[in-house]
Amino acid sequence: LFSGRVDFLLSAPQLKFLPEPTVPEIAFCGRSNVGKSSLLNALTGRRAIARASVTPGRTQELNFFEVGEPTRFRLVDMPGYGFAKAPVKVVEKWKKLVKTYLRGRPVLARNLVLVDSRHGLKDVDREMMRMLDEAAVGYRVVLTKADKIKASELDATAAKVADEIRKHPAAFPELHITSSEKGMGIAALRAAVVADALQ
Ligand code: GTP
Ligand code: MG
Repeated sequence: LFSGRVDFLLSAPQLKFLPEPTVPEIAFCGRSNVGKSSLLNALTGRRAIARASVTPGRTQELNFFEVGEPTRFRLVDMPGYGFAKAPVKVVEKWKKLVKTYLRGRPVLARNLVLVDSRHGLKDVDREMMRMLDEAAVGYRVVLTKADKIKASELDATAAKVADEIRKHPAAFPELHITSSEKGMGIAALRAAVVADALQ
């Protein structure tokens, strides 16, 4: 499916701009700069279908991408959370948009919660996972930027994160370790995403 049609659909800065919930959706969540847009590009094999940036907080809207012809499912690139420098107003707007989307979207098939391999889980990630647990929205935890740390450190972080996500009822027990830069773990995650979307 990913080798076929993938198109940008629309960008929703507010809830009223969300597209009609006609096909399953897979949402990408995570802290600012964790690599959501880059992972979306890597999974779709497109270099820059989602805008990645060196500036944290770049993605401020929900960006929808359609996969398949006719459309089989959508990928949703979310604005990042936990950006310390974000003004209070921006954070409040983010919370309303993201929480309402995650809690009330009937076609939401799965979330990917991205966590930087170098940092492991932060409190903002735990808060996001608790919210998803409460909303009973299943999610996969994905370690990103695995190319940026030594294998031994990666193993230690992965073990710690895997231990912790077992306590979260809506989290998948298996952890995905990826590098969008080097292509590591991308094929396996792609297969999981397609299975989740078409279940
Ligand atoms: P926001 O939209 O601001 O929340 O960021 P984001 O989560 O979409 O992150 P984005 O994909 O824009 O990536 C942030 C930075 O990390 C960019 O400079 C990317 O090139 C870099 N990056 C993302 N994934 C990887 C990776 O797997 N390896 C390396 N080395 N760098 C990565
Ligand atoms: Mg982004």
